[in-house]
Amino acid sequence: MRRLIFARMIGSVLLGLLGASALAQQNGVELDFDYFKNEVQPVFLVKRDGNIRCIQCHTRSSGFRIQALEEHRLFFTEEQSRMNFESASQFVLPGADPLQSRFLTHALAVAAGGDPFHGGGKHFPSQDDPEWRIMADWVAGATHRRTPSDVVVRIIQTNAAGDNSSIIDPVTNEIVGEITDIEIPHGIVGAPDGSQIYITNESMHSLDIVDSRTLRVKRRIPLSGRPNNVAVTSDGSKVYVAIMQMPGAVDIIDVASMTKIKTLPVNGAIHNVYVTPDSRYAVAGSIQTRTINVIDTATDEVVWELEMDAGIRPMTFSTNADGSTKSIFVQLSGFHGFAVVDFARQAEVARVEHPAVPGQEAHYDGLQGAPAHGLGVSPDGKTVWSTSKVYSHAYIYSLPELEPLGRVFVGQHPEWVTFTPDGKTAYIGAAGDNVTYAVDVEKMEVVAVIPVGQVPKRVATVLMAVD
Ligand code: HEC
Repeated sequence: MRRLIFARMIGSVLLGLLGASALAQQNGVELDFDYFKNEVQPVFLVKRDGNIRCIQCHTRSSGFRIQALEEHRLFFTEEQSRMNFESASQFVLPGADPLQSRFLTHALAVAAGGDPFHGGGKHFPSQDDPEWRIMADWVAGATHRRTPSDVVVRIIQTNAAGDNSSIIDPVTNEIVGEITDIEIPHGIVGAPDGSQIYITNESMHSLDIVDSRTLRVKRRIPLSGRPNNVAVTSDGSKVYVAIMQMPGAVDIIDVASMTKIKTLPVNGAIHNVYVTPDSRYAVAGSIQTRTINVIDTATDEVVWELEMDAGIRPMTFSTNADGSTKSIFVQLSGFHGFAVVDFARQAEVARVEHPAVPGQEAHYDGLQGAPAHGLGVSPDGKTVWSTSKVYSHAYIYSLPELEPLGRVFVGQHPEWVTFTPDGKTAYIGAAGDNVTYAVDVEKMEVVAVIPVGQVPKRVATVLMAVD
């Protein structure tokens, strides 16, 4: 029936092109709704440089019609997805040569095999374009995304005052890509399998899922409030989002269904949430109530709380030989250093204050209450790194002794720290210089200063799928 409507609409021109073989093929291939809903529809919502989003024009179209998003909705409802599916299907010959589907040729560049004219312009320069491939795979009958052929290590630097996040190749220390279309990106973490990246979006109050292969936002999941940092379990199944609004909550996202399954009330607005290295706990810190909330990831309930004497800033963890959590290192409001919390005893056991750096000008302007705001334990578990905005250095201590090993200049207002998985290089965003420092961990020497965007803060090591 639908094929008949399609044939009438497009008329004899296309029928002439079709030929008998294409018509036969289409009988064997069925278009998959879930794949269309979750993978193809995001292409209609995404802003591509120099283009208008498909949805801006096609809600008014009499031919290919995209349903308008309801007010305050970030994605289509199930019913709307069905309608979009029906509409798009009319311009598709399932299983046929992709260049016989108007749905695929209209926004494809002429030189790449696209048809001569689309009132909405050309969006895809080649048939290798990852977004065009998502659409073409649907037409070919795909039911899920193709498994990535390979993954690579990348460092992603979010730019707190920019509209972009910069992707660094740690082999060359060059910028190799950019994630755009997220204003006020805050926290960032990668899916363990490299398929996608999670970024909290403070302007839209959403968790944005970015496809590693297209670098486009694939889904924006509405949150219960303004988010800050984000964490993922090591099996990739759940994402925890810090909600930075009183009375305080951690939103829990189920990755498979891309839905928020719980808003867990906690003690205080949450700045940072982490998952411990063994994934047994999520640990959420509040600046306002000075409280660390420890959540059991099996039950998603708070199992213990610890109130400190100052607001909870960045945290990181050391582990016991069996992988369980030994200590939480925690930076505190107004303290130039960090505290050590014994995880088993649920108590503070030590405090380390960073000494002044002789000859280094001290900065007290724009500290935002956090003189030290970046912590990381090296992958071998032998050192802990803490950055100082006051003295523009990263301070390095041995573990478990906490003996000072050295320090390295890492620019004005250094922020977060991340390490390559082999532990050889540390990356630190210098918010005041719009660069990311790459530091040789063993030698404690800067090996590269990489220009990024405006006010780089959070930095993360992720795996990213390559097509
Ligand atoms: C600037 C507005 C605009 C944008 C953006 C736009 N289109 Fe269009 N599109 C049109 C207009 C106008 C037509 C009808 C004229 C034509 O066929 O070119 C059309 C036609 C089409 C058709 C053929 C429908 C028919 O009735 O024959 C398809 C398929 C299509 N667009 C897909 C897309 C896709 C996919 C995107 C995003 C990647 C997109 N368009 C973005 C304006 C737009």
